[in-house]
Amino acid sequence: MEWPLVKSLLWVLALVAHIHELRACIEEERMGLLELKAYLTSNTNYTKPLLPSWVDDLKSECCNWERIKCNDTIGYVIKLWLSNINHETHVYADNENWFLSKSLLQPFKELRILDLSHNGIRGWQENKGM
Ligand SMILES: *[C@@H]1O[C@H](CO)[C@@H](O)[C@H](O)[C@H]1NC(C)=O
Ligand SMILES: *[C@@H]1O[C@H](CO)[C@@H](O)[C@H](O)[C@H]1NC(C)=O
Repeated sequence: MEWPLVKSLLWVLALVAHIHELRACIEEERMGLLELKAYLTSNTNYTKPLLPSWVDDLKSECCNWERIKCNDTIGYVIKLWLSNINHETHVYADNENWFLSKSLLQPFKELRILDLSHNGIRGWQENKGM
């Protein structure tokens, strides 16, 4: 084989590996997102499936899931837009005891923006009763 060909092949391989690396989301955050989804699901009874793109599949890139933005350089989740998660406003209305635990957000080290409005969440577990 000619050297220039081998070289360009290696270069393409390196580039593909690099892109793949950049796109891969952090495993700890992937698990955290799935946990968050499970929690939100258990506290609501929406008629439509909640956050359908958030699937437990290693081939699924969590930075491409709906309502998420990752930092392209470091791969960490930086934004979570979960306002009115299922566009079904009145379903949650009678859940008086829905408090979110801060530990659910612990996996997200670089999270800058979190929007959980219009979901009927009453507040944080830690501040309950205050
Ligand atoms: C959701 O659950 C509440 C009780 O927790 C019930 O009153 C309401 O009808 C349910 N809504 C749906 C869409 O199932
Ligand atoms: C992504 O992370 C890098 C390194 O921490 C930072 O310099 C950059 O500003 C971040 N980009 C965004 C869009 O947050």
